[in-house]
Amino acid sequence: MAETLMQRVVEALPFLDDIADDVQPKVQEAVDAGGTTVRNVLDGVWLEAPLHPALTDVPVGAWTAALVFDGLDVATGKESVRHAADASLVFGTLGAFGAALTGLSDWRYLSGGSRRMGVAHGLLNTFGLVLSVVSIVFRATGRRNAGRLTFLAGYSISGMATHLGGELSYHYGLRVDRNVFEEAGPDEFVPVLDENELARDDLRRVEVEGVGVLLSRSTAGEVCAIAATCNHFSGPLEAGDREGDTVVCPLHESRFELCSGEVIDGPAVFPQSRYETRVRNGRIEVKAAAENVQKKIR
Ligand code: FES
Repeated sequence: MAETLMQRVVEALPFLDDIADDVQPKVQEAVDAGGTTVRNVLDGVWLEAPLHPALTDVPVGAWTAALVFDGLDVATGKESVRHAADASLVFGTLGAFGAALTGLSDWRYLSGGSRRMGVAHGLLNTFGLVLSVVSIVFRATGRRNAGRLTFLAGYSISGMATHLGGELSYHYGLRVDRNVFEEAGPDEFVPVLDENELARDDLRRVEVEGVGVLLSRSTAGEVCAIAATCNHFSGPLEAGDREGDTVVCPLHESRFELCSGEVIDGPAVFPQSRYETRVRNGRIEVKAAAENVQKKIR
């Protein structure tokens, strides 16, 4: 796959790796110290969507409004417009702190090029945020022109950072639902395994029509089937730990319900695709559930 311009730029800056080596373990430690609840809040499990992109809308929107109000203020000199510019700037700056927190949390498990790109994204955002804070100070101390110019510089840098955030999602696939890259699986029931080959505590991966399916038995004895590849970063769930009727991904410890695919703990926020099961003539049969995301987009 060809590299983008920004990937080539980031590749040429090895100091980004040095920063990542120093900072990432501390971020992991800090997030882990908060426990499962804090991790799930930061990851967006409760929202059923990644929290960081949602929060970045606050500074992007509010700062854009501040920029427009600043322009109107210069053009009209109206005090109400000036106050609107200041309020939008402060609101966006407060929102940026929340976005920074969730962004650091998302970055904690990245490696290689995506980790480097994440550092560049974070550094630019930090510069943008610092300039916004400086702009607020200038405005509060009567140096409005300096405040406007400082904010304009910060807004421009934050714009570049936003572009790198887009690269993280669109090029590296960060925080996307990787279910969609898998085959949907069969529309009709297909036999995949002899029933007596699936023991009570098994996590058994079978391949059916190009898709890996994780078979298990619930504690009540029901045969269950969800996608075997973790939708967070493609971890092999058959190699995960079973905890009751859930499975913990071996890569970053997302926990899914084995029968519904529902996310119990992040960093994954999307449910695993689910498969209908039945037993016929001693064989376990599966077919894709109607709600699976792959069936809806293809
Ligand atoms: S691959 Fe990251 S939690 Fe499964």
